[in-house]
Amino acid sequence: MANMKKIAELAGVSLGTVSHVLNGTAKVREPLRKRVLDAVQVTGYQPSQLARGLRRDKTNILAMIIPDILNPFFPGVVRGAEDVAFTKGYRLVLCNTDNDHSKEIMHLNALRTYLPSGLIVIPSDFSELTVQAESYRRTGAAVVCIDRLPRNWDGDSVTINNAEGAYEAASYLIGLGHRRLAAITGPLHLTNSQDRLKGFKRALKQAGIESIPGYLQETTFDRAGGYAKTKILLKMVPRPTAILACNDMIALGALLAIREAGLHCPDDISLIGFDGLDLTEVTSPQLSSVYQSPYQLGAAAAELALDRVAQEEGPARHIVLKTELRIRDSVAPPAKAKRAAVKAPTRKAGYVLA
Ligand code: RIB
Repeated sequence: MANMKKIAELAGVSLGTVSHVLNGTAKVREPLRKRVLDAVQVTGYQPSQLARGLRRDKTNILAMIIPDILNPFFPGVVRGAEDVAFTKGYRLVLCNTDNDHSKEIMHLNALRTYLPSGLIVIPSDFSELTVQAESYRRTGAAVVCIDRLPRNWDGDSVTINNAEGAYEAASYLIGLGHRRLAAITGPLHLTNSQDRLKGFKRALKQAGIESIPGYLQETTFDRAGGYAKTKILLKMVPRPTAILACNDMIALGALLAIREAGLHCPDDISLIGFDGLDLTEVTSPQLSSVYQSPYQLGAAAAELALDRVAQEEGPARHIVLKTELRIRDSVAPPAKAKRAAVKAPTRKAGYVLA
């Protein structure tokens, strides 16, 4: 099998010149570069990233661990990270945890043996990333935690202004005249769920509205959770007139429960989701939501990780991205309003539901 020595012989150059041409580590005069590339072609040489990685104790892999690629929020995050990795000469390797922390530990242990340059993690529920990250850093790998942070996280991070986003949504509903507001949160041991709840409560407090414990429901970030908790809310007396669902999947479950109960959104109950997924534009009614950019989240994380690879030292950096409240048809003043009172411009759909 052809190797770099063979190429050097054939091209009549040193091994170092071959290495510089193939790895782009130094500028090589054009005639020499061409001789090396011709020799590569003649011999059919395929560089082994593994061998190269072992020599450098680092591969050009950017590892990424997420809860579940089937959740429509996460593909955008992965794509953003991959695009940045690609333009900088890295390849992205992806693992799903299904929110299971023991699976996350297995991935963390296995991925480390591939000697990645960096690791981006959306932690699972009850993640032990804080402890595990140290062993990555010891190998010189950058670790960036995104979207939600595990307990005591002190490394680099990219998140969004969760509290502000929820505060704005709840304030909007209060502005429409709602006083009986419910919230369906994600798992409350996750920092993003905690912050969204804080923002919701702050809006109520500021308006002098007492938050009724039964109106606060905690669930998993999925449709089944939203459906089950909305059924509970709809049986309460008095029934809430508005719900803030702390992600769009919860909101989709809520819409279904509202419809099944023979009620109408927004005439009987207003609903705002969180994430602003494209698919919320094809629901009926179109769902209002607190938009965040999954692509930007992933891209910023990859930038941060690869910056850290280039320059290891320095204090932890925390990037907080902005959210944007997007009002569509699922909100109206309480008491049988027929149409949404205020409409904001909508984005173009990126894809439609099959
Ligand atoms: O649907 C995925 C949700 O989980 C998003 O709201 C995201 O912020 C998250 O942690």
